[in-house]
Amino acid sequence: MTTATNTCIVGLTWGDEAKGKIVDILSAEHDVVVRYNGGNNAGHTVAFDDRTHKLHLVPSGLFHPEVTCVIGGGLVIDPQVLLEEIRTNESLAKGLRDRLLISDRAHTIWPWHKKIEALSEKHLGKGKIGTTLRGIGPAYADKANRVTAVRMGEFLRPEHLKPKVERIVRQKNEVFTKVFDDEPLDPAAVWEEYAAYGEQLRPMIADTTAWLHQAIADGRRILFEGAQGTLLDIDHGTYPYVTSSSASAAGVWTGTGVSPRAIDQIWGVVKAYTTRVGEGPFPTELTGPIGDQIREQGNEYGTTTGRPRRCGWLDAFAIRYAAALNGLDGIVITLLDVLGGLPELAICTGYLVDGKPLEAFPADPTLLPQAEPVLERLEPWPDDISGARTFDDLPPAAQAYVHRVEELVGAPVRMISIGPDREQTIRRD
Ligand code: GDP
Ligand code: IMO
Ligand code: MG
Repeated sequence: MTTATNTCIVGLTWGDEAKGKIVDILSAEHDVVVRYNGGNNAGHTVAFDDRTHKLHLVPSGLFHPEVTCVIGGGLVIDPQVLLEEIRTNESLAKGLRDRLLISDRAHTIWPWHKKIEALSEKHLGKGKIGTTLRGIGPAYADKANRVTAVRMGEFLRPEHLKPKVERIVRQKNEVFTKVFDDEPLDPAAVWEEYAAYGEQLRPMIADTTAWLHQAIADGRRILFEGAQGTLLDIDHGTYPYVTSSSASAAGVWTGTGVSPRAIDQIWGVVKAYTTRVGEGPFPTELTGPIGDQIREQGNEYGTTTGRPRRCGWLDAFAIRYAAALNGLDGIVITLLDVLGGLPELAICTGYLVDGKPLEAFPADPTLLPQAEPVLERLEPWPDDISGARTFDDLPPAAQAYVHRVEELVGAPVRMISIGPDREQTIRRD
């Protein structure tokens, strides 16, 4: 069992590493779970008692009735989606409205964000980013732009917000009609709809920064939940094919107001192979039958958009970079069961460009598409390992795989997931 009090769970690759499952499990050992970045581009899955729950904004600790769930200021919140998610889950997540806090500093997603993103991606054609079309990028762009942004706290002062929203809609309409030759939005209708959402969310909006500082002073144990993954981080990821928030552990500070010095341990989550949704370079991608087999065995279809995920070998070169960025205390390997029965198995240990090894994970977006992965072959295992409950239950080849990941990444494997359910987990801490 972990002895640390404050823990960060962060994805090490391009998202969907099963962070939701791990956060749900570790929630039992924490008092507070805080989401620190992104929005409803995220799809986090929690499975127990033969039921599967897909979450987008509410922290994955919601099914633990003693846990307070905090949505940090680093998020962009679509109020409609958040309300729907609360409604869908409150029968099982007992008392959720009384233990969910939404930061007054969090930014908001409005209809114009989704509309401009759809127009932009369509306009880009083949050059698109392949976003989730949830308005995430435009909402963060407005956050940086300041004068066209709305924070959750502004719903507490609707008389000030109403004229501001009408002004923003008029400004956005100029772009829709004059640049894209598209339909304008109706400012009155937008305000009426969103004012009603604001009214319903009002009791949960709070100064979560001050609340978290007090919680830490009171010795409450905090679990920080990252969305997306380090390679999608706006600063450190495979730019421009990234999301628009700090998806590495760097997001904890800006996204919650809690100092990184308050974090006792950082665990990076990684699948036993690699996946990516949307466009962008993916050096270890398998476009043939093995990639298809991984997609089918791992049910690799997006939690948020249902898009088939691109699948490839575990990229230890990229993960080592992610480990260094985050400063990992431990690794969590998930979906190890999916590799059972593959005809071959490999891990990428480096990249070659023009036959020469790269020293470091590159920033130059023209290099990654040319990178040829250096593959180390490992012995596959035929067994179904989803029933294993201890490390010793795993076949020797699966144990060797885990040990090799530890060596290549340079951090110990603390947990192994061998199925979607809470029970299908091996602890090594
Ligand atoms: P997240 O975004 O990082 O929370 O991950 P997602 O929920 O988007 O994707 C992970 C998927 O894998 C979900 O469908 C989970 O139910 C499933 N899953 C989680 N752990 C395991 C595992 O160890 N084995 C298998 N086969 N599936 C898993
Ligand atoms: P979780 O938290 C996987 C990807 C999109 C696209 C890029 C930018 O479930 O791991 P965006 O809509 O954010 O502007 O899209 O980022 N993406 C994710 N991929 N898991 C996610 O979240 C993702 N959130 C965004 O597919 O390539
Ligand atoms: Mg996901």
